[in-house]
Amino acid sequence: MDSKRVVSIIGTGSYVPEKVLTNQDLAEMVETTDEWIHSRTGMRERHIAADGQATSDLGAAAAEKAIADAGISVDEIDLIIVATLSPDMFFPSTACFVQDKIGAKNAFCYDLGAACSGFLYALETAKNQIAAGAVKTALVIGSEKMSTFIDWEDRSTCILFGDGAGAAVLQAGGEGRGVMDAVMGSDGSLADLLWTPGGGSRNPISREMIDQKQHFLKMQGREVFKHAVVRMGDTVLQALEKNGVSSDDIKCFIPHQANVRIIDSIAKRLGVVGRMYTNVEKYANTSSAALAIALDEAVKDGAIVKGDLVVLTVFGGGFTWGANVLEWNK
Ligand code: ACO
Repeated sequence: MDSKRVVSIIGTGSYVPEKVLTNQDLAEMVETTDEWIHSRTGMRERHIAADGQATSDLGAAAAEKAIADAGISVDEIDLIIVATLSPDMFFPSTACFVQDKIGAKNAFCYDLGAACSGFLYALETAKNQIAAGAVKTALVIGSEKMSTFIDWEDRSTCILFGDGAGAAVLQAGGEGRGVMDAVMGSDGSLADLLWTPGGGSRNPISREMIDQKQHFLKMQGREVFKHAVVRMGDTVLQALEKNGVSSDDIKCFIPHQANVRIIDSIAKRLGVVGRMYTNVEKYANTSSAALAIALDEAVKDGAIVKGDLVVLTVFGGGFTWGANVLEWNK
């Protein structure tokens, strides 16, 4: 087995639902203002899925675009991983629903849970299965219907999130180094700073649990902010070193899209101001979909072209974090 087999991203796609919820709209729902939200987060609007639309519907729409972009037949897909914290159901996996919707009958499918870090974790997992020779073509999706798990009466969280999906097709082969090595880490001792405490086996569904709104996302915003800046900054430096490249070599850094102030702090610390890709203004935080959507948009709007070195970095609930380097070769 050649553990250094090149693995490439051969197609990307993204999808956001039609309905747009602006900061002004939110100001009519909770006590907040466009000025407060934009100055604290960089967000102006987010997209919200329709009632009948599930996470797999968003994921399938993004996947179909990625498959078309890759120019492959859906029958070639051996593996589908969906990163999500807002699955269609506890089981079966959202990946199985996506498989059925897109007709990828030759794939095996599973979900991956790493909260906002999920897409990078899924990318790394798929890359390693391809590099090991276990599969040839993989479809990796980050998809979220965050609007289902948000307390729309809690102004400290409801302003921050949006719905959407992004996807990438990975395949063995390609020029240059393709998807390079990742550095990832987790700290489960800090889980309670960002979690949805109710509805699972620890705190099952009950009238009392619902009355206490434990089935909605809870967050200590300032703590999350501090950890996100430190962890993403440190991990990017480790990933650069692991892959033998310097930050000067990197054309574009694509971070998790949680808050423009988090992104600016990391950019200053790393001395890469002006090279951070952001679209948080349009979509807010779409959790595991955020990196996938940003990567697709960076490619489509020409921020990344063939031969560029790109850094991806994420941070999310768990806590979980990670970074990797790509040599863009499409
Ligand atoms: N509108 C107006 N006022 C508000 C709002 C709102 N939507 N939300 C909170 N406030 C008030 C608070 O009640 C508080 O008032 P007080 O001083 O009278 O008590 C005041 O604003 C300041 O609140 P803070 O929470 O301290 O505000 P902060 O400047 O820290 O910004 C924010 C809050 C935007 C959540 C910030 O902490 C943050 O972005 N943290 C990162 C969290 C994050 O991104 N989580 C996403 C998931 S994790 C991930 O994806 C990385």
